[in-house]
Amino acid sequence: MRRTYSVIAWIVVGGVAVQAASIAFALGGISRFIQDGGVIDKALVESREATFTGVAGFIIHGIVGGMVIPLAALLLLAASFFVKLRGARMWAGIVLALVAFQITLGYSISDVPYLGLIHGANALAVLLTAWHAARLINRPAAAGAAETASHAVTT
Ligand code: HEM
Repeated sequence: MRRTYSVIAWIVVGGVAVQAASIAFALGGISRFIQDGGVIDKALVESREATFTGVAGFIIHGIVGGMVIPLAALLLLAASFFVKLRGARMWAGIVLALVAFQITLGYSISDVPYLGLIHGANALAVLLTAWHAARLINRPAAAGAAETASHAVTT
């Protein structure tokens, strides 16, 4: 179960990388499209028929951000209840809370574009906390044993 917990946390880490890559791909595609004389307006966006290079980036960002990462964060919390690892629940809880915040920001960016500043920065917080959770299993068992031994000596 420790390995499962770690693998799920790595999935979140990988998901954040996919998110950064997909949105850069999408925005690069928009830039190219406009420079080639293309026009993006409300009608094109709502028709969902835009075909410029990079449009898949928005779709990937929506699917990975709206489904894959939140599902992985939920599974991480579920797994944390079955794993004997100090801090597992706390870190899974932090990852889930940051992901929930991230998604709320993501769906609000077009209403308040300034939220994009927090959305981009908070992605780093998701990455770092999930990374930390993934590496909890690497804590040397000896450190825990030594801690217990020293506690026994002092009491
Ligand atoms: C934990 C990582 C991330 C999650 C869970 C996430 C999630 C989301 C979600 C759910 C949306 C709304 C998509 C929609 O309306 O269909 C969104 C939009 C957006 N995100 Fe992220 N995102 C993440 C990382 C990033 C990063 C690293 C960047 C760029 C630095 C970014 C930039 C944007 C932008 C520009 C939008 C608005 C464009 C759009 O609607 O696709 N996101 N994000």
